[in-house]
Amino acid sequence: MSNFERVPNRKGTRSVKWDLVESIYGSEDVIPMWVADMDFEIPQPVTDALVERAQHGIFGYTFTDPSYTKSVTNWLENQHQWHVSVSSILFSPGVVTSLHMAIQAFTEPSDKVLIQTPVYPPFYKVIEAHDRTLVTNPLKYENHQYQIDFDDFEKKLQQGVKVFILCNPHNPVGRVWTKQELEKMAQLCLQYDVLLLSDEIHADLIYSGHKHIPIASLSDEINQKTITAMSPTKTFNLAGLQASFVVVADKEKRDKLKQFFEKQGINMLNTMGNTALEAAYTQGKAWLNELLDVLESNRNLVIDTFKNRDEITIIEPEGTYLVWMDCRNMNMPHQDLKNFMQEKAKVGLNDGVSFGDQGDGFMRMNIACSQATLEKGLNQIIHALDQR
Ligand SMILES: Cc1ncc(COP(=O)(O)O)c(C=O)c1O
Repeated sequence: MSNFERVPNRKGTRSVKWDLVESIYGSEDVIPMWVADMDFEIPQPVTDALVERAQHGIFGYTFTDPSYTKSVTNWLENQHQWHVSVSSILFSPGVVTSLHMAIQAFTEPSDKVLIQTPVYPPFYKVIEAHDRTLVTNPLKYENHQYQIDFDDFEKKLQQGVKVFILCNPHNPVGRVWTKQELEKMAQLCLQYDVLLLSDEIHADLIYSGHKHIPIASLSDEINQKTITAMSPTKTFNLAGLQASFVVVADKEKRDKLKQFFEKQGINMLNTMGNTALEAAYTQGKAWLNELLDVLESNRNLVIDTFKNRDEITIIEPEGTYLVWMDCRNMNMPHQDLKNFMQEKAKVGLNDGVSFGDQGDGFMRMNIACSQATLEKGLNQIIHALDQR
């Protein structure tokens, strides 16, 4: 049985996704399909590298050198045809940490920061935690597809926005923004002198027919105006090891951000995170190809399951293993929808409203699990719908 077919027992590992099910969803028998990690074992070469490092038995201070950082830049070159110099990379324990650091380093209290909603909840927190002013550019939802409202985007930039936090691919709506869309956003940011902070953590999780384009790769001018936060942790299921990085081409911005990290006492990754990052980026590609096939067939299963059901419409994701579900035809107040999913269908989904008001009547499902688990969850939802 392949790694992707097994249903591993994650309980008892202090897993947020599995061990907090009862406290969050009220019952042990709810299938966790929420927080964004995967129920798959990591690539064998990464496990081997971690075991080998662990067996050394000494875990003193470690550093990163250019040959280590090259594993990142080679990955970006091969995976995204993005040429990044080793000197542009700063390491960070997490993408959310990087967003917090960048907002503090490049804006002042009450400065305006723009996000496109609905969006990953920490985007709101990153702005509010530092008393910056939240400005939203709501995505347009038409014919079960999300698009950027460019008129509103420009209007918001004209109001004096300092930073735009882009989510590409977008969590939760699953869009992989096209070159045209990215160029238009980037041009407007240049025109209105707005710093682009691009969260591209889902960059490697793209379905066939789509291509991830790092926004900074569009032109040298855009590159100088962009800070990109990325990580192997979504791609290779390493979130607990906390290893990520930031690409900052402009030296002045890079120095400023680096100083800010240091001021907060963050100046190195942990040894095991380092080990996993390098092994994943140098030896993980075959595993990733297999993963993408599995995710694509899981995504298709979800689409097929609901295609003849009026109650729930699936917004077909172009990337990410997160599926945004429009449940508004169930005609239920949002709290009743949440209760229905956890009490009747017994599935633990993310609450749509946690991504913003536009998530009223929506839920988000994590499909990075074995097909057997996914089928069980989907059957439970269908059965519960039939019982209504
Ligand atoms: C868009 C986005 N950014 C960041 C993160 C988390 O990143 P990290 O664990 O590196 O802080 C997630 C996790 O789901 C995410 O979806």
